[in-house]
Amino acid sequence: MNDSKNVLFSEYNLNGLKLKNRIVMAPMTRSFSPKGVPADYAPTYYAKRAAGGVGLIITEGVEVSHRAASGYLDVPNLESDESKMMWEKVVSAVHKNGSPIFCQLWHVGGIRKLGMPPSPEIPGFTPSGCVKPGKKVAYEMTVEDIEELIEIYVNDAKICEELGFDGVEIHGAHGYLIDQFFWDAINTRTDQFGGSLENRARFASRIIQETQQRTSPEFQVGIRISQWKQQDYEAKITSDKDELNLFLNILKNAGADFLHCSNRRFWEGEFSEDGLNLAGIAKKTTGLPSISVGSVGVDKDFIKLYAGDHQTQTTDLVKLHQKLNKSEFDLIAVGRALLSDPEWANKVQNGQEKDIIPFDKSFVENYV
Ligand SMILES: Cc1cc2nc3c(=O)[nH]c(=O)nc-3n(C[C@H](O)[C@H](O)[C@H](O)COP(=O)(O)O)c2cc1C
Repeated sequence: MNDSKNVLFSEYNLNGLKLKNRIVMAPMTRSFSPKGVPADYAPTYYAKRAAGGVGLIITEGVEVSHRAASGYLDVPNLESDESKMMWEKVVSAVHKNGSPIFCQLWHVGGIRKLGMPPSPEIPGFTPSGCVKPGKKVAYEMTVEDIEELIEIYVNDAKICEELGFDGVEIHGAHGYLIDQFFWDAINTRTDQFGGSLENRARFASRIIQETQQRTSPEFQVGIRISQWKQQDYEAKITSDKDELNLFLNILKNAGADFLHCSNRRFWEGEFSEDGLNLAGIAKKTTGLPSISVGSVGVDKDFIKLYAGDHQTQTTDLVKLHQKLNKSEFDLIAVGRALLSDPEWANKVQNGQEKDIIPFDKSFVENYV
């Protein structure tokens, strides 16, 4: 292994949780969980990536136990005995292969449409009824709804701890429910959950804070955030540097153990082309462990997945090594490259990049 790979494959201590290297499997919805129960092959699917050299696994988005959490078919949850049993098997298979595993807790908010299963009459829940700016199409949550959901997140995190997960990642990115609260263009509430940045971040902060209070100190509670929204890739929580620092510190002060900052291309700076990316700013501002992500080892960003551009080519990791060597961020999440090649991390470590199987969207449902 040459020097430039040393950081990528060096151990990392995540608040006491030992990771064998800096590679994180990014959360990726697999739609292999009819009725919310992960398929029989789920433990093997995750275990293969752990055996393939990944330092930390983050599960696909798992719906929180709320009547409007669901927005897509066959997404897993934590509700039935069967799904809990499958998650226990997943956790145990991953641990046997040397990686810790976090569960990503997800509520789609207004992305849910009327007519969707499991209860078609239940609308999308949102801060102010809007999914995109300007048009009220969904249900506006009351304060009681918000309080109920905070409790649900905390209970689900406790279930995750009981099932053996090493932590949870609260999905606060990509324009789903928590990000709908962060985004001032669609959170037009005038109570304590809308208006100022502190107020818009209050829902997420309360979830983090109360989950920390009611899980053990070893159990990691972090959050995934993004500036971009699926509703508008150019939208941002804020484009002001001081406000961004304030936002990140609000999450830190709520008790977040780590910040996972979602970019479509990890090498792009937040405020200038070659400046720090969002994860870099998060680390510098808060001192918290930070995870970056976005087009590692692939030549197209993941939005192209939905724009008909199917085939990717493997790319080198020069920029990644440079950023890790400068300690810009601590960990790097890898998505598609780990779907197509569970052995991706081992191949990189062993200098077998040319043997990596490139990601092809045509097979996305068949990568197990
Ligand atoms: C098939 C697929 C499913 C995804 N599902 C989720 C998800 O459940 N939760 C989430 O936060 N991000 C999800 N993402 C985004 C990834 O976590 C990651 O941020 C994105 O793919 C960029 O990383 P990559 O360029 O290495 O693929 C998904 C991406 C893909 C390709």
